[in-house]
Amino acid sequence: MCGIIAIAAKNDCINDIISGLYSLEYRGYDSSGLATIKNNHFEYNKNVGKIFNLEKSVKKNKLTGNVAIAHTRWATHGKPSIKNCHPFIKDNCVLVHNGIIENYTDLLSQYSINKKNIKSDTDSEIIAEIYNKLLNKFNNPVEAIKNLNKKIIGSFSFAFLVHGSNSIFVTKRGSPLVLGIGKHFNAVSSDVLGLPDSTREIIFLEENDIAELNESSISIFDKNTRKIKREKHKFVQKQDFKIKGNYKHFMEKEIFHQPISIEDTILNFADKKRKIVYLPKSNIKFNKFSNIILVACGTAYHSCMVAKYWLEAMTNINVSIDIASEFRYRKNKFSLNSVGIVVSQSGETMDTLKCLDKFKKNNIPTVSIVNVLNSSIARLSDFILPTLAGSEIGVASTKAFTSQLSVLALFALHIQQQEKSINKLYFNSIFEIHKSVNEILNKENEFKKIAQTLVDTKSIFYIGRGVMYPMALEGALKLKEITYKHCEGFAAGELKHGPLALIEKNIPVIVLAPYDENYFKLISNIQEVKARGGRIIMITDKMGAKIAKKYSDKLIIVPKTNFLTSPIIYSLPIQLIAYYLAVFLGTDVDQPRNLAKSVTVE
Ligand code: G6P
Repeated sequence: MCGIIAIAAKNDCINDIISGLYSLEYRGYDSSGLATIKNNHFEYNKNVGKIFNLEKSVKKNKLTGNVAIAHTRWATHGKPSIKNCHPFIKDNCVLVHNGIIENYTDLLSQYSINKKNIKSDTDSEIIAEIYNKLLNKFNNPVEAIKNLNKKIIGSFSFAFLVHGSNSIFVTKRGSPLVLGIGKHFNAVSSDVLGLPDSTREIIFLEENDIAELNESSISIFDKNTRKIKREKHKFVQKQDFKIKGNYKHFMEKEIFHQPISIEDTILNFADKKRKIVYLPKSNIKFNKFSNIILVACGTAYHSCMVAKYWLEAMTNINVSIDIASEFRYRKNKFSLNSVGIVVSQSGETMDTLKCLDKFKKNNIPTVSIVNVLNSSIARLSDFILPTLAGSEIGVASTKAFTSQLSVLALFALHIQQQEKSINKLYFNSIFEIHKSVNEILNKENEFKKIAQTLVDTKSIFYIGRGVMYPMALEGALKLKEITYKHCEGFAAGELKHGPLALIEKNIPVIVLAPYDENYFKLISNIQEVKARGGRIIMITDKMGAKIAKKYSDKLIIVPKTNFLTSPIIYSLPIQLIAYYLAVFLGTDVDQPRNLAKSVTVE
């Protein structure tokens, strides 16, 4: 995979371009380059190695510019070298490319390209050469792209600079591109992380879209060059994550940010219209593995527990999960054909990092699902799947958790896609999650009321079945972390094997009960609790509520979910209950006693 960032601005944009490249470094960093257009003249810098090398040479050469395109490369065709480094400069255009052009040799003959003009070993330079020809023919950059796209087989996102224009022209198919709108600039990047901090709104391009952006306007065209509109989304600025704004706590702000962070993560890796999941490119064919081993700590471990249910049901791969602090010391044997996945918000948790080492020592390919892209875990793993939650300040993880779940859900769908068995219902439903999350946030007062009833209780329990079992554990962890109350989560079916002894009059039991295949079993478990005087707080959907009414002391109705979406959507009630209870109790919500955000000790 490679990363693209391009900006057309009123003022010099080179610093934003470099900082965008740093944010995209997780997509590859074996070489990088940028090009600008000034007075109809292209200027460029290219360097082998990390972005730091490019930054040094750009400073040394005093390269400036208001319109620039840039690229960080992860070599697929041709080794890392200056000649294979993007951008590719031709007479009339400059190109950066992310993706793989499968028919690039055929294109050479189709367009009668003189091989002498191709100096690199890449599949990309040919596209620059062809586009150059098409510009001469059509004298219209958008028409030329339309024509080019028709002939290409493969995946791509392209950004072009064109002689005689101060615009950037982009297009995509099978590789992501997101447009960023600022006050005095427009930008485009392989993902939201690459966009400048001062971006105000974003637009996700859809398959075969073509866009022209200059400092003050953006025009989007469909594959037939008809002008179209795409939905705009609010961009949450990176530095904004570090201030509380109108919120009382960072945790509150982070809970309420989730409709955006979840949608960002999903749209970054999935295309609703073309019905495909596109994770960053990698040599790893996940569906070819027989075993997936997931390890993590704390909340991240709960996301692995949920993923086990998903991956086992949705793919043909065996899945095992482990707490990192246990896994690293276990004398386990690795079966051949395994892949190790570590999940971590911070990317610095010592036990998780050591598990990564253990995988590596045993020659197991590694994937990390991380929120901090320059973290140790991200840097050491073979493949990174970023969670686009933005910085999380509150010690108790909220939005990072739902982004981890979102990435893991996409990962399961991605494997189904590789197995050619993608579940359409699940796929379509992931694009609606943020709406359900919003609906729940609008019911904040209901959760406040529930929290109020918990103030004087000595113990609280969470129960659930199936994917709601790990969510019960997460609900209990959230409560413990910030309210300091004793709280435990149980698999509802296990109550009768011990925990039922703890139930006495008025003990609150929060039941996570989507109306799914486990629902009626759960109702039996609720009756076991009720019969012993427990107080049932039921979180369910409309269908579930019809039946549960008579068994519940308090009932909150949340939107309908399915097997894939329910853990993400039911995260909200558990976070809100914990948060409001902590506020009533007056604890230090963002920095609870005895805990730390990033645990870099054993
Ligand atoms: C600490 C935090 C938890 C977090 C865990 C794992 O214990 O307090 O909120 O879930 O570490 O952190 P990680 O950064 O690896 O996700």
